[in-house]
This record gives sequence, structure tokens and C-alpha cells, in this order.
Amino acid sequence: MEFTIKSGEAHRQRTACVVVGIHEARRLSEAAQHIDSASKGYITELLKRGDINGKVGQTLLLHNIPQTLAERVLLVGCGRERELHDAQFLKIVTTATKALADICVTDAFSYLAELHVTGRDLSWRVRQLVEATRDTLYRFDQLKSKKDVPRRALRKFTLGIADRKAAASAHAAMQAGVAIANGVELAKNLGNLPGNICTPSYLAEQAVALGKEFKSIKVTVLEERDMQKLGMGSLLSVSRGSREDAKLILMEYKNAPKTVKPIALVGKGLTFDAGGISIKPAADMDLMKYDMCGGASVFGALRAAAELKLPLNIIGAVPASENLPDGAANKPGDIVTSMSGQTIEILNTDAEGRLILCDTLTYIERYEPSAVIDIATLTGACVVALGRHASGLFGNHHPLIHDLLNAGKYAYDRAWELPLWDDYQDQLKSNFADMANVGGRDGGAITAACFLARYTKKLNWAHLDIAGTAWRTGSDKGATGRPVPLLTQYLLDQCASQAPA
Ligand code: BES
Ligand code: MN
Ligand code: ZN
Repeated sequence: MEFTIKSGEAHRQRTACVVVGIHEARRLSEAAQHIDSASKGYITELLKRGDINGKVGQTLLLHNIPQTLAERVLLVGCGRERELHDAQFLKIVTTATKALADICVTDAFSYLAELHVTGRDLSWRVRQLVEATRDTLYRFDQLKSKKDVPRRALRKFTLGIADRKAAASAHAAMQAGVAIANGVELAKNLGNLPGNICTPSYLAEQAVALGKEFKSIKVTVLEERDMQKLGMGSLLSVSRGSREDAKLILMEYKNAPKTVKPIALVGKGLTFDAGGISIKPAADMDLMKYDMCGGASVFGALRAAAELKLPLNIIGAVPASENLPDGAANKPGDIVTSMSGQTIEILNTDAEGRLILCDTLTYIERYEPSAVIDIATLTGACVVALGRHASGLFGNHHPLIHDLLNAGKYAYDRAWELPLWDDYQDQLKSNFADMANVGGRDGGAITAACFLARYTKKLNWAHLDIAGTAWRTGSDKGATGRPVPLLTQYLLDQCASQAPA
């Protein structure tokens, strides 16, 4: 779908459908007023009859309004004007997009970016409008023999803005929105693919493909023999129980001078997590195909950065493996030696994410990154703690945590900080090795982060536990593409803060 920005009044737009807001208590948005006055009160008359009163979630489709060039006008309920916050705005956009998809128009013209959202400027609204529209229209039907494509799909989407002078900034916001939506879509597609297709080598091939598409991304894939030489005993112990070879995927995005230290994004790429010998219960085990969503978000964020040509250096590292029960698999009580030299007693083979991440975090030291962010569907405990609205955030560097929290707020892809106090480290004590890989039931998301903290002492590091945010359950089950918007916003913010004053 192609997005464009255009200024001008709503009744003058020649389109299959123009979208305008109606606030609660039947108040017209500015764009609705233009149509209303051109048509000598057509909309006011309708509102009086009570067909729509402006509640969020309502829509009303009108045809051939006098003195209006659009074939149709879609009225969308926008709630109370004073109480229009982020969540309502996104709900309004989603409702409108679903209504547009239902009527099968191929082009549309929306004035929803002109709504007043508390504390948000035009750039924010344009960007979120683009992202939410793409998110709503997303379908994963590549593995269905009969595709559920609508008869005619929306191909051209124009965003109407009132102020001609704001067109340049709106255009930049639109481009950022499209790049983020492309990154989110890539992450969703990878996440939604089943474990028998999306294997570690498939992920590696996708990385190579990304490197072909963007010349700024150089891809290297480390094989098991390379990891052996590096001493990655922890990572390799997880993949030993699987017939698929592990891959350590390295993607280097270079678009700043060599002297600028890179930002490293490390994503857990467990293409299927059965738990290993500490096998998971059968119910919902299919969801563990999503255990590579951290890795997928690294693909997505790099794609967005490359599309936007951000003046940064970024390293994406995705350790990819399966975790299955097998004669060669890790057994509870096994002790392995990580690349850092620290030994680990594996008390639960289902705590495998930290085992593949720790060696990758050690490896990443050689790039001397200015900041390292790991992203992982690491613990069920994080879902218990925070539910599905916020990703869990931990770290050893306050400025980095602060930047990530702010990026998440702006992107509406929020994170919430949890404590990483040393007091919790005791739970990882082992009588037989330097540490255990699990710390018991209490504070499970925290002890998982504490484990990673033992491998990141030399780094400015943050950890995002996305177990609750990376996919939706229920009837709209599927990958969300989170936290690509948060990560991309963080990268955008870094460009701004690096720019010479
Ligand atoms: N991939 C899972 C975490 C997970 C569980 C994500 C449920 C989303 C939903 C991870 O590898 C895992 O199994 N973690 C264990 C850790 C435990 C053994 C300490 C968990 O959360 O149960
Ligand atoms: Mn597991
Ligand atoms: Zn896992």
C-alpha cells in the first residue's frame, strides 16, 4: 500500500472514500465541518436523527453527499474531544481501517491525523496512523491454500492535513511510519511461520536476503564449528538436542564513520522451544514457535534503520537454535562452560534462552558497542508480572534504560522497569558450578535478567523480556511485531542526540 500526504479541504478530495471524525455529543471534527458546510448541513441533519453520536467504535458510511467530490464519506466516532489519548486514537484508526477493508475500496483519504490527541503533535499522529493502518490490514495467509484476500485491496492511502506548511514534517513522519511498519511486518511474518519452516538455517537465509536487499547490511553466519572454536559451550549445549544446526547470525549495519561505536541488538532466536528434557506441557506448546520473536525484532529494527538510512552503526546478533528432548540433549544437573569461562549448572533445560544469549553477549564484546540491548521471550514469569501491555526492562546503565523507556512511550510500545538488585543474585547459587541456570519460582523474570547480568559487566546493557508482548493469544492469535517500534524509536533518538549541535 502506498501512503501520501495532501493538504486541502475534505469536500474537495476526489477519492473512493474520505474518512472524517465525529466527536461525542455529535460534534463535528474540522474535516467533517468542511463537508457539512459544503453540503449545507447534510451531516448535521443526519446527526440530529441519531444515526451516530460519536462514541469510539462507531462508524457510518454515507454515499454521494451533495457538493462533495468523494464517492463515499466514512464518519468515525472519536469520543470526547478533550479525552482523546493515545489508546483511543489508535482504536479510532483501527475501527476506521476495518470499515474501509469491509467496503473493498482501493483508495481512501483520511483526515484522522488532524484529530487533537492530548500531548501529541502532527508527526506523532501521522506516524501512528500509518503504523496502525498497516497493522490492522496485516494478514498471514501465505500457508493457506485459499488466501483470505479481500475482493479488492486498499492500495492508495492519502493522509489529509490542514496546514500546507506542515507537509514536510508530516511527510518525514509518514516515511518513518512506513519503515517501522515494514520492520514490524517482517518480524510478524518470521514470528508467525511455524517451527518446521522457520528453522535456524531459515532465519540465517532471511538474514542473507536482508543483506542483499540493503547494501548497508553485511551478514555473517557462524556455524557450530565456529562456535566450538570460540568456546560457546553454553549455546551449543542447547542445540545438541536438536537435529537442526544452530546458527549465530550477525548483521552489521554501517552508515556512520568507523570511529562511531556501534549499538548492538541481540535477539533470542529459539525457533522452537519444547523445553528439552524438562519438557513443557502439551497445551499451547505450539506457541513456542514464537520463541524467536526477539531475534525477529532485531531483523525488523535493522530493516527499518536501513530503509531510513539512519546515520548509525548497528550490530544485530541472533543466536538461533531449537530446544528439543533427545539423547544428546542437556540433562538436568549437566554442567557446561560458557565462552566467558563461567560454568553453569543446568537445573532446568527449559531455561535455555539465557544459555544461548550469554555466549552471544560475550561474543558481542569484540565490537566494543556503546550500548547493548538484548530482546528475548525469556520468561513466563514476566507475563505474570506485567501482563501483555508492557515489556519487562532491566539494565545496568541508567541513561540507556531511560532512553528505552522514553522510546517505548513515544512509539506506544511500552516497557516497564523491573529491579535488578544484587539481592536477587543469591537465587542463582549452585553447589557445583559458578551459577545455576534457574533461580526458583520467586521473581523468575528478575533472576533470568540477573543471569544475563553476569555476562554483561563490561557493557552498557539493557534487557527486554518480551514474553508477554511479542504475540497475541485468543481469536486474533499471532505475532505483534513488538518491540520493533520501540527499538526503531530508540535508534531514531540516537541519531538526534549524535547530530552535531
Ligand atoms: N520461552 C520460554 C519463556 C516463555 C514461556 C515465553 C511462556 C512465553 C510464554 C523460556 O524458554 C522458558 O521456558 N522459560 C521458563 C524458565 C523457567 C524454567 C525458569 C519459564 O518461564 O517457565
Ligand atoms: Mn524454555
Ligand atoms: Zn524459550
